[in-house]
Amino acid sequence: MAVSTTEQSLATAPSHQGADWWRQAVVYQIYPRSFADQDDNGIGDLRGVASRVPYLKTLGIDAVWLSPFYPSKLADGGYDVSDYRDVDPKIGTLQDFDDMVAALHEAGLRLIVDIVPNHTSDQHEWFQEALASDRGSAARDRYVFRDGSGQDGNEPPADWESIFGGPAWTQIADGQWYLHNFAPEQPDLNWENEEVREDFRKTLRFWSERGVDGFRIDVAHGLAKDLSDPLPSQAQLDAMPHDGNHPLWDRDEVHEIYADWRKVFDEFDPPRTAVAEAWVESDRRPQYASPSGLGQAFNFDLLSATFEADSFRQIVSFNLALAEESGSSSTWVLSNHDVVRHATRYGLPTRAGSTNKEVGNEWLLSGGPESQLDRETGILRARAATLFELALPGSAYLFQGEELGLHEVADIPESERQDPTYFRNRGVDIGRDGCRVPLPWSSSGTSLGFGEAGSHLSQPAWFSQYAVDAEDADPESTLNLYRRALALRREWLTAESLTWVEHTDPDVLVFRRPNGWVCATNFGNSPAELPEGEIMLTSSPLEDGKMAGNSSVWLRG
Ligand code: NOJ
Repeated sequence: MAVSTTEQSLATAPSHQGADWWRQAVVYQIYPRSFADQDDNGIGDLRGVASRVPYLKTLGIDAVWLSPFYPSKLADGGYDVSDYRDVDPKIGTLQDFDDMVAALHEAGLRLIVDIVPNHTSDQHEWFQEALASDRGSAARDRYVFRDGSGQDGNEPPADWESIFGGPAWTQIADGQWYLHNFAPEQPDLNWENEEVREDFRKTLRFWSERGVDGFRIDVAHGLAKDLSDPLPSQAQLDAMPHDGNHPLWDRDEVHEIYADWRKVFDEFDPPRTAVAEAWVESDRRPQYASPSGLGQAFNFDLLSATFEADSFRQIVSFNLALAEESGSSSTWVLSNHDVVRHATRYGLPTRAGSTNKEVGNEWLLSGGPESQLDRETGILRARAATLFELALPGSAYLFQGEELGLHEVADIPESERQDPTYFRNRGVDIGRDGCRVPLPWSSSGTSLGFGEAGSHLSQPAWFSQYAVDAEDADPESTLNLYRRALALRREWLTAESLTWVEHTDPDVLVFRRPNGWVCATNFGNSPAELPEGEIMLTSSPLEDGKMAGNSSVWLRG
C-alpha cells in the first residue's frame, strides 16, 4: 500500500476551544418541534431541548444548531418568522431560551441558531403594515411589491415560479403583487432597504447578547436581487448562469451584507460564527466562507453522492481545496431537515442520471415502496459513511435521529402533512415531513417518549426499535457507535489535513490524518483487506479478519 504524495489542506491546529472552536466542531441539528415535548402540547419545545442536554453531552457533540424557534404560523416549519427576537409561545418563552442556553453552556456545548433573512412570515408586523399601507409607501418598500402586468395589472409582474412550486408572485387586495421565492406566506424582504439591514443587525446582537455562539444563515445566496425592469421571464432566468449576475441568486453584492454582519459578529468575544446555507456553484462557495464574510458555508455534495469510492474521494479532495481557498474549514453533511435520511437513501437502488438525493425523492414520490428499500444495507452504509465523515478534517453537521440510524418515514397520511412543498408541488415533490417525525426516546409509551400529548407527525411502529432506550442498552447500536466515534474524534482531533493512502481494491478509500488516525471505507459489497494499524473502531464486525462490505474502520496507523 503506497502513501500518495498529496497531503491536502491547511495544517491548522485542532481546537474545540477558543475563537476557532467551529473549525472542526461536530454540530447536531435540532428541529425543535420534533425533538422533545416537555409541556405536553404535542409539539417539541425549548424545555424539551434543555431536558435532553445530558443526552447531547453523552453523545459527544460540540454544538447544537437549533432550527427556527421564533413565533411562526408554521407555514414552512418555522422558516416563516413573524418576530425575529422572540420565542414561539407554542414552544416556549425567552426565559426558556435563556435556561436552555445556560444548560448547554454548563455542559460545554455551544449553540448556533437559524437566521432567516431572505423572507419573513406574512404574519410579521412589517408585512401586515405593508398590506395596510399605500403603494409606494415606506412600509411596502421593506418587501418587493410591484404592479402587475397585462392591461388591468391582473397578471403577475413576471411568470416566475417559487421554489416550493406555484407562482412566485401573489396579488393583494389593492391589486399590487409581492414576491415570494418560497411559499406565499414567506414574502421576500428588500435588502436594499436600510431599515431591513439595521433590523437584522439588531437581531444578530440580540441573540449574541443572550449567549448564542453562532448563526446558520438560511438562503444566504438569495438576499441581493436585481429587479430592474424589464423583468426577465422564468425561461430567461433558467438560462442565465449563476455567475454573480443572476437577478435572483448568488449576486456578488450579497457579500456586502455579510461583510457588514462580520463587523457585528466581531463585536463579541469570542466573535460569533456563521455558516451559510448557500446553494451556489461550488466555486462560488468560498466567498460565503471567507473570514471577512460569514466564515463557513455548507457543502452539500455528500447529500447528493452515491455511496461509491470515486465520488466520495472526489468530493473530499475538491472541498478541502475549496476550504483552503476560503481560509475556512470544510463542512460535511449527510442528512438534514430538507432531505431523505441517509440510511434510506443508501438502501435504495441507484439510478443512472439521478443523484442520491433525487433517488430518495423519487422513491418517496412513488409511495416509498418497501420492496425497493434494503433497510439493512442502508443502515450499514449509513454507519460506514458516518465514520468516514467524522474522520474528515473540518466540521460535521449531524441531523437529529441519524445517531439512531433512523430511516425516512414514507407513509405519512395526507391529513398530517405539513410541508408546503407537498401541497404546492403535488406529484412532483412529496415534501420533507418524513425526516421530521418526532424522535423516539423510549421503545413504548405515548409517542415513544416524545411527549404525553402524542406527536404532531405520527411515528410508525418500527420507530420503537430505534428508540434511545433500546439503543442505549445495545452495545452494537448505531447510537453507541456514534458515541464511541465522537469520543475518539475528540481525543484524536488533529490538524486539518489528510493524506490519501492507496488501496489495491478500487472500492476501498483510505486516508490518514497527520497524527496517524486512519479511516478506511469499503464501498463495495465484498470483504476487503484491512490497512495496517491498530483497530480502534469498526462500523460492522470484521469478516475473517477483513473489512466487511459497506463498512468503515478506524485504525491507529
Ligand atoms: C432552507 C431551509 O433549510 C428550508 O427548510 C426552508 O424551507 C427554506 N430554506 C426556506 O426558508
